[in-house]
Amino acid sequence: MVTASAKASRSVSAPKIRQTQLLIDGKWVDAKSGRTFETLNPATETKIADVAEGDAVDIDRAVKAARKAFESGDWSKMDARDRGKLMFRLADLVEQNLEELAILESHDNGKPIRDSRAADLPLVIDCLRYYAGWADKLKGDTIPIRGDHFCYTRREPIGVAGQIIPWNFPLLMVAWKWGPALAAGCTLVLKPAEQTPLSCLRLGELAIEAGFPKGVINIVPGYGPTAGAALVKHPDVDKIAFTGEHRTAQIIMADAAPTLKRLTFELGGKSPNIIFADCDLDAAVAGTEFGLFFNQGQCCCAGSRVFVEEKIHDAFVEKLVKRAKSRKLGDPLDPNTTQGPQVDQAQFDKILEYIEKGGDEGAKCLTGGKRWGKKGFFVEPTVFSEVTDEMAIAREEIFGPVMSILPFKKLDEVIERANRTTFGLAAAVWTRDVGKAHKIAHSVRAGTVWINCYDVFDAAAPFGGFKMSGIGRELGEAGLANYTELKTVTMSLQ
Ligand code: NAI
Ligand code: MG
Repeated sequence: MVTASAKASRSVSAPKIRQTQLLIDGKWVDAKSGRTFETLNPATETKIADVAEGDAVDIDRAVKAARKAFESGDWSKMDARDRGKLMFRLADLVEQNLEELAILESHDNGKPIRDSRAADLPLVIDCLRYYAGWADKLKGDTIPIRGDHFCYTRREPIGVAGQIIPWNFPLLMVAWKWGPALAAGCTLVLKPAEQTPLSCLRLGELAIEAGFPKGVINIVPGYGPTAGAALVKHPDVDKIAFTGEHRTAQIIMADAAPTLKRLTFELGGKSPNIIFADCDLDAAVAGTEFGLFFNQGQCCCAGSRVFVEEKIHDAFVEKLVKRAKSRKLGDPLDPNTTQGPQVDQAQFDKILEYIEKGGDEGAKCLTGGKRWGKKGFFVEPTVFSEVTDEMAIAREEIFGPVMSILPFKKLDEVIERANRTTFGLAAAVWTRDVGKAHKIAHSVRAGTVWINCYDVFDAAAPFGGFKMSGIGRELGEAGLANYTELKTVTMSLQ
């Protein structure tokens, strides 16, 4: 007999794949070329489905549809409150289909189902609702200029937005991109990552069910250098929002130069996580584990440089290693699994290369360091101590379950070392001394600083990077500005 608790802890079955085509002008269509690409289950390395492979021709069709929808005004000039209502409806549909979407996300990406259910999907719903609420709250100012004039500003939608997203949080990245764009009244063409197109296509179906006018939301799966680059170069796209690697952003910036597109980038990091001796040790250890190993280490803001004050170094490392060892690797669809596979062979290979480099450069591997199992892109939770600032594992983004521990002695020293990076996405500090906490928060050049916590995200709080971690901010009110043009209207009162 299966008891209720045994049932709750059983693996869920693989999902039914409902949608693999492109969404253009409200219709599901094949790529003009007829080509498809495979999307794999990273836990088994087997094919899940063949997905229509869009290229420049399909991007052009999608951009034309988005442009037509924008110019028609059906969406951009719809009563803002009605626009918000449609967005709320989409959020409700996501909520009603949470379980199906969570399974699909875990199946295509490899993330544990417990995370898809408890983190990704709730954040998606929250983000859509947060921005739905903004649709009728975008306003300008009246400005007291010289002379007998009436001057005011308006926030108008930027037009057609091209959105290119990565594979680490497929649905959440869609929500971060669609939320502000739709609230502002833009139409859009989204290119999902080639590794994880499925949940996004399902969301497209829900958008149609919600009743968005045709052409407002278009989705073109495909590869970066073909579909992605075509979107970036298209003269009828007003803005590109991109999340991914900084090297890709450099290509996008060059490709966007001839048309002077507006660009926002959310890129990688090498975020410092600073642990002072006066912290709550158990909380710091738990937060450090979460800050790096969550999502298999595939987080742009992963706390990959763990600076530990020398006085507590050994005690901290001992507890941390114990936690790393207790992570449960396995089938992402098993609710007991806490760590799934990396997303694909390329990421898996890159991570193992860094692990090797770490050893070669003299860091000490305290746990992990190898592939886990024989099938699937699993990497053992890996912790390196005796890491120095110059080592590749301390400088470059690994994007995997590999932690570097670096000892420090003084506050000023750790600030200087924390900032010795080309990135600046996030940072964290663990201490009970509020002065020290805020000194760090004000001194570290990063877009987000967490104090005595890690990875606390909220749709209302802006997120983005200093330096090579990005341009612009997503989420919050700041995220909306990127989807609007500010217009100044001046009238003579004579
Ligand atoms: P990527 O930056 O190449 O891919 C992200 C998206 O950009 C995908 O949709 C891809 O198809 C598209 N893309 C690729 N080349 C393009 C081009 N020339 N024009 C337009 N779009 C293009 O990242 P990738 O190759 O998947 O991962 C490489 C590394 O990037 C990772 O190991 C990690 O270090 C970093 N990364 C950072 C992310 C973040 O959240 N900041 C997310 C994903 C990767
Ligand atoms: Mg790439």
